[in-house]
Parts: sequence; structure tokens; C-alpha cells
Amino acid sequence: MSLSVIILAAGQGTRMRSPLPKVLHPLASKPLLAHVVATALKLDADNIIVVYGHGGDAVPKQLAGLPVQWVEQPQQLGTGHAVVQALPHVPAGATVLVLYGDVPLIGAATLQKLLAQAGRENFGLLTAQLADPQGYGRIVRDSQGRVLRIVEHKDATAAERDIGEINTGMMAMPAERLRGWLSQISNNNSQNEYYLTDIIALAVREGIKIATVPADTATEIMGVNTKLQLAELERHYQRTQAERLMLQGVTLCDPARFDLRGELTVGTDVVLDANVIIEGKVTLGDRVRIGPNNWLRNANLGDDVQVLPNCVIEDALIGAGCRIGPFARIRPETVLAEAAHIGNFVEIKKTSVGAHSKINHLSYVGDSVVGRDVNIGAGTITCNYDGANKHQTVIEDGAFIGSDTQLVAPVTVGRGATVGAGSTITRDVPPDKLTLSRAKQETRDNWQRPVKKVKDKE
Ligand code: UD1
Ligand code: CA
Repeated sequence: MSLSVIILAAGQGTRMRSPLPKVLHPLASKPLLAHVVATALKLDADNIIVVYGHGGDAVPKQLAGLPVQWVEQPQQLGTGHAVVQALPHVPAGATVLVLYGDVPLIGAATLQKLLAQAGRENFGLLTAQLADPQGYGRIVRDSQGRVLRIVEHKDATAAERDIGEINTGMMAMPAERLRGWLSQISNNNSQNEYYLTDIIALAVREGIKIATVPADTATEIMGVNTKLQLAELERHYQRTQAERLMLQGVTLCDPARFDLRGELTVGTDVVLDANVIIEGKVTLGDRVRIGPNNWLRNANLGDDVQVLPNCVIEDALIGAGCRIGPFARIRPETVLAEAAHIGNFVEIKKTSVGAHSKINHLSYVGDSVVGRDVNIGAGTITCNYDGANKHQTVIEDGAFIGSDTQLVAPVTVGRGATVGAGSTITRDVPPDKLTLSRAKQETRDNWQRPVKKVKDKE
């Protein structure tokens, strides 16, 4: 049987107190809705339909890359009305699974259990027992425990409000039946909305069995309505990822101070100190050690790399045995070969650095090709930008660049060359020789240091 997933995402999310549509708020750097779509994709659905509305095109525009069909619900007239908008995209004979764009941590395993309950004559309903069911729709059962209907909190009697079993909103049912039921619901209720939940009573009337499935964990059914709830879910999500990594053998010095906002692939014996933030796709080889306060995004670090505290590393390939930091900034398109050292207050951009080369202090190296066994002294700057265009600096193998050198690109320093400290290099430097550009030092013998004038007393 084919599966269509409908994700409801048209609501405004007033309590987020933000002009950004609620489902675009990020959890671990990824919009809430994108989490739900990622989970739906694990279910092998034939199609995923997202009902959007509040905020106009903002949601489909920002998430244009997702493999979903977008359906607009221009006015939010209720969850039942929202599902109706998606129905034209649901093929005959399909099973429909309804998810919420603001319930980001729903798990595929729980949804599989729900789907297992839904058949041609069956309805699967994901419910939960809550100590505080305030605000949720309640599951009303008969004396034999069979589900009869769902009553919304606002429409419930005092007795119904005592029911602890709530509707999570997620449900699965046969498409053809769903079409029939939705054509019968009205908005004759306290909120004047077309409630999706009203289809339960209609299904029961047709003799359809409502099979309730409990959620595996409490957090997976949690919706985001406020920034507070968003932060709680973020912490929960981060804790889950940290636990997974620790069970894979990663040492996290403090799992509460580790954030993974993307995908991390690790070798063995990796150690991450406090306040490490990983974004995008990051790969760490065996025995990589990342010190405290480091931010890595889209980077690949080879075996035995050491990152000392307070570095920023982005879109870079770091070879085995490199040592980086403290306080280094590795910018996009940097490639470091094995055992290169990048030290404190060094910025590297769009540059390849050969094996065993060292740039240890206070330097800017951009748009450059640095060979192997090169030593770049403190305060060296590649002047790569003339105000209009960027130019390349080439420093060949074994060169030694004295401290406080400016290399005005385009320029090449030859193999084995030595550049004297304090030089401004504007022409190519020949290999194996000492080159320097420096004003001659002089000393004046008969010079006297000026003294402060003493004012006459009046
Ligand atoms: C809904 C359920 C309630 C359940 C609760 C779980 C109904 C009538 N009630 O209540 O039984 O306990 O969720 O959280 O279904 N949406 C649209 N278009 C609309 C209205 C809503 O896309 O016209 C989307 C919202 O963006 C949201 C979801 O549907 O993602 C739920 O809507 P919401 O208004 O939060 O429903 P509740 O009143 O909380
Ligand atoms: Ca809600």
C-alpha cells in the first residue's frame, strides 16, 4: 500500500513572538519543519505534502530544496481544513499519515508502530498519558476502553478534562475513508474551526477500529509553542546526540557543553573538551583532540590533529598530525598537509600549506600556496588584495620568511629562499638566497634627546 505523509505547518505560532513562521525556527541549526521531513523520509513515503500558510511563501522559499509537495492553506481554518488542502495530492488507496511541522523530534520507530495499526479498516492514533493534559484534545473511551471520540480542551466538560490521555495530533488512516469523513466535519465548536479530531467519532460510527499507540518517549510528541519549549527540546536533542557519540567511544569532557548542529563522523579515541560546537559536516580522524571553545564547520581533520583552545575552523581540510591554535582562524578553502602548525592569532584563507610547514604567530596568509617545510615568521602578511582584485602568493618548499614581512601579491618566493625580517617584498624572490628590503640602520653620535621647556615664573 502506498503512503502519503501530510505535514501541517500553516499555523502562525503567535507565542514564539517572532515574525518568522514557527516551523522555520531552528533546532540544532535546522528548521523545525526540516526535522519532521527528514523523519518522514525514513518511512519510505510515496509523497510528502506540507501544508503551509502563515508567512506566505517564506516557508516553501526557505526550504525549497526539500523533496516535498507544497500546498497553501491561505486561511488557517483548522487542522481538518488543513488536511483537506492536501487531499488532491493523495493517491487513491494510499494510507495517510498526519504529522505536525512544530513537533520536530517525533521518531521514525514510533511512526512505524502507528503505521502498522493503520489499514483499510483501521485507524492508528498516537496518544500519550500526561500528568498535565491542559490544552490538549482528550481521548474519550467507552466502558470497555474503546475509543469513541476526541474532545478538544476548549469544548470539554469538567469530567472530560480529567482524562489524562491526550491526542498528540499524529494519526494514520486509509485515504478514501479520510476523504469521506473530512467532507462531513463542520466548524460548529467553540473555536469555529474545522477539527481534524472530529473524524474519530465518524470513523467509530462506520465501525472502524481506532488503535491507539503510545509514544516511545515523552519528548518526541512535544510541540514547540514558545522559545522556552524550543530551548528545552534543543537541550534534549543535544543530550541525545552526545549520548550517542559517547557510546561510540567519543570522550566528551562535558556532554552538557557540546553542540552538534549537523553531522559528525568520528574515528577512535576522539576527545572533545567543553564548549565545542560542530556545524555542517565534520569528520574527525583517530585520536583527534579538540580543546575548549572551538567552533568547527564543514571540516575534515585527519588522525592525531590537535586543536588548541579558541579556534574557528570552516570549510577546511586539515591533514594528519596538524596542530592548530590557540586562537587561530582557518577560513574556507584552506588545505593543510600533514603535521603543519598554525599558531596563535593566525588567519589562513584559501591557502594550501605543505607538510611540516609552520605559521606560528600573528600572521595573515590568504590566496596562497605554501610549500612543505616552510617557516613563516611572526607578523607576516600576504597583501593579497589591491582594492579591486585578489592575487596569489607562492612560497616554495623550504623557504624561510622572516618576521614582519609583507608579501605583496602576485609574488613568488623561491625554493629554500630566506627573506629578511621586516621586508616588503614586491618582486619575486630567487631560490636559496637571502633577500631583504629594509632601510639601512644608522646611529647618530651627536644627537641629544629633547628636554621639556621650563616656563618662566611670573
Ligand atoms: C491540536 C489537536 C489536539 C491535540 C493537539 C496536539 C485539533 C482540532 N486539535 O490542537 O487534539 O491535542 O493538536 O498538539 O486538531 N495547523 C494548520 N492549519 C490550521 C490549523 C493548524 O496547518 O488551520 C497546524 C498548526 O500549524 C500546528 C498543527 O496544525 O502545527 C496543530 O494546530 P494547533 O492550532 O496548534 O492545534 P491545537 O489547538 O494545539
Ligand atoms: Ca498546538
